[in-house]
Amino acid sequence: MTTGNDSKQRGFWNSRFGFILAASGSAVGLGNIWKFPYIVGENGGGAFVLIYILCTIAVGLPIMLAEFTIGRKTNLNPVGAFQTLKPNSYWVGIGYMGVLAGFFILSFYGVVGGWTLAYVFKSFTQAISNFASPQEAGQFFDSFIANTWESLFYHALFMGVCVGIVLRGVHSGIERACEILMPTLVIFLILLMFRSLTLPGAMEGVEFYLKPDFSKIGPQTILIALGQAFFSLSLGMGCMLTYGSYLPEDENLTSATVYVVIFDTMIALLVGMVIFPAVFAMGLEPAEGPSLVFSVLPAVFVGIPFGNFISIVFFILLAIAAITSGISLLEVVSAYFIDQRGWSRKKAVVITSTIIFVFGIPSALSFGVLSDAKLFGMNFFDHIDNIASNYLLPLGGMLTAIFVGWVWGTKSAEEEIEKHETIFHWGHIWGFLIRYISPVAVLLVFLAKFFP
Ligand code: PFF
Repeated sequence: MTTGNDSKQRGFWNSRFGFILAASGSAVGLGNIWKFPYIVGENGGGAFVLIYILCTIAVGLPIMLAEFTIGRKTNLNPVGAFQTLKPNSYWVGIGYMGVLAGFFILSFYGVVGGWTLAYVFKSFTQAISNFASPQEAGQFFDSFIANTWESLFYHALFMGVCVGIVLRGVHSGIERACEILMPTLVIFLILLMFRSLTLPGAMEGVEFYLKPDFSKIGPQTILIALGQAFFSLSLGMGCMLTYGSYLPEDENLTSATVYVVIFDTMIALLVGMVIFPAVFAMGLEPAEGPSLVFSVLPAVFVGIPFGNFISIVFFILLAIAAITSGISLLEVVSAYFIDQRGWSRKKAVVITSTIIFVFGIPSALSFGVLSDAKLFGMNFFDHIDNIASNYLLPLGGMLTAIFVGWVWGTKSAEEEIEKHETIFHWGHIWGFLIRYISPVAVLLVFLAKFFP
């Protein structure tokens, strides 16, 4: 059953600013703060940053506009949207895949989100403020994530916070939360950046981060940059489509897209400017993802003035970023049940979040009691992350680009985009990118994965 026009259950964004902040809130998350610095560190610093920016503009930006356009055209969740534009076809599969990806991603995202909440509390109680070395901080982190009840408690707490916000609906919940949280994030990050940059030895980190060393760039690096662009911009699972579905008709989609992409990229770049100077100033190496943020940084904070305060601020930021992305993941899954099944928002949110939480339990235990339960060398957490992030998202993005470029047609899409703007100035370039560049680029990701 389609009740797409039931705006009481669905809701609308109240302001243009609120929508842009909410979409940015979805984009900016653990992907920017936890993953981006780590993969920059692993892939040659400045040169990787340039390639990432290129992927974001050439592939991410056109797909985001495509998602917003489908969303606003149909005012529906991903399943309802594809069903409406191409009834009784297999294209609706993109929508189902998106809802499934949202389900999978939130199940492990909630676990890491729980760790961020835990580290906020642990900063306050100074439990993570006395490490003698990064190794000690690492051991503390490892034993924390191995603890069954603590992991589950914080995992549940994170899900509970997301439920509390999404239950309140699009305007008074998601939009209002993001309006406060996103600007706070930017202000804190800028403050932290100054703190990092004024540490002795910080310039070495800046140089690593900004000076391109193209000798470290290969085909694989480009593919990693592309995958990161998808995850970071919340693309490929109909998340931006769902957020676009709450837009009133007079919204200028192209400028909203540009703002969200710039905001997401700016935050990632800012985070790099916080982390690399600090890591280099401490004489440390940019290490692996989870250890970089959760174990190396607390050790970094110990060594600097106002370290405990900075630690509190940093983990609050990380938690904020994770929550505003978590709510977008929950919204996609809930919107499906609200629109397609006619459920009330409350029923949809409570039931889906409970199932996602239960499905996430093996992920939460993957670093403790279930750490030996491995298949092909990966634990449950890694498998779910791998299936969702490395397969479902790029596949969804590629199919969305093909759908808009070749099936629904760029002409119909441009008509929708031009509802507000008299002329879509970038129409030709966008049409070219969405028909050729985006799908081919993603295809290359898959070829590289299957034929490394
Ligand atoms: N973009 C989020 C991040 O960078 O952490 C993660 C994410 C959120 C991915 C929502 C996909 C999504 F639909």
